[in-house]
Amino acid sequence: MSQHRGNDLTTEGLSQDKGHLESPNTDPITRTEIILGDSLEIMKSLELPANTVVITDPPYPDYLADEYKYFDGVLDFLKDLPYRQLIFWSCRADFPLDYTAIHIWDKKVPTTPYERIFERNGKTHYRHFSDYLINSPVAAQYARDIFNEHPSQKPVRLMKKLVNEFSDPDSLILDPFAGSGTTLLAAKDLGHPYIGIEINPEYIKIAEQRLRQEVLL
Ligand SMILES: C[S@@+](CC[C@H](N)C(=O)[O-])C[C@H]1O[C@@H](n2cnc3c(N)ncnc32)[C@H](O)[C@@H]1O
Repeated sequence: MSQHRGNDLTTEGLSQDKGHLESPNTDPITRTEIILGDSLEIMKSLELPANTVVITDPPYPDYLADEYKYFDGVLDFLKDLPYRQLIFWSCRADFPLDYTAIHIWDKKVPTTPYERIFERNGKTHYRHFSDYLINSPVAAQYARDIFNEHPSQKPVRLMKKLVNEFSDPDSLILDPFAGSGTTLLAAKDLGHPYIGIEINPEYIKIAEQRLRQEVLL
């Protein structure tokens, strides 16, 4: 499926909106930041350390594609990044980039029971992760998370497993499709610097609120 990008934000507007939760230390290796904007624009000028690890859950062609502003080529900017990348992707759609390994997230639900996690610039080993899908307060209770009303909230425990498994202790964790900030929350809880980018201001608000609170796991 091909769609136009329904981006409401101009590039100027984006740069003015940068700086949510920015820490006083702007060294790219230690800073924590959530940026409101379009990753395709922001990534053109973002300075990142060599030990960056990208862990991200982008828009899919076959699920809430309009809400999440999916279009063919939305992942293309990742081709230029030399860092290790872990990219969630639907079990039904072709993955558009090359990769070194596929990992599986078992969501423990009968419908679309798993998602694939494609690894780029990494190793070729395989991992299986099993955690509840969080799409309701009930599911969130199973996962011991707090439901935040982003339709694709990932379990924090799953994201912590990925951060642990695929990064070094001092790695900066980058999520260019941050949503409600679950990857960032996992990075924060494990003591990693992180940068998140999210195009929807409502989701940024949720992410900021979550990152201000303690992780209850
Ligand atoms: C599947 S959701 C991520 C959910 C997240 N893992 C969580 O736990 O909340 C994908 C997110 O990417 C955002 N998005 C889509 N296109 C974007 C772009 N070009 N730049 C930044 N964010 C984008 C959408 O608004 C959506 O919140």
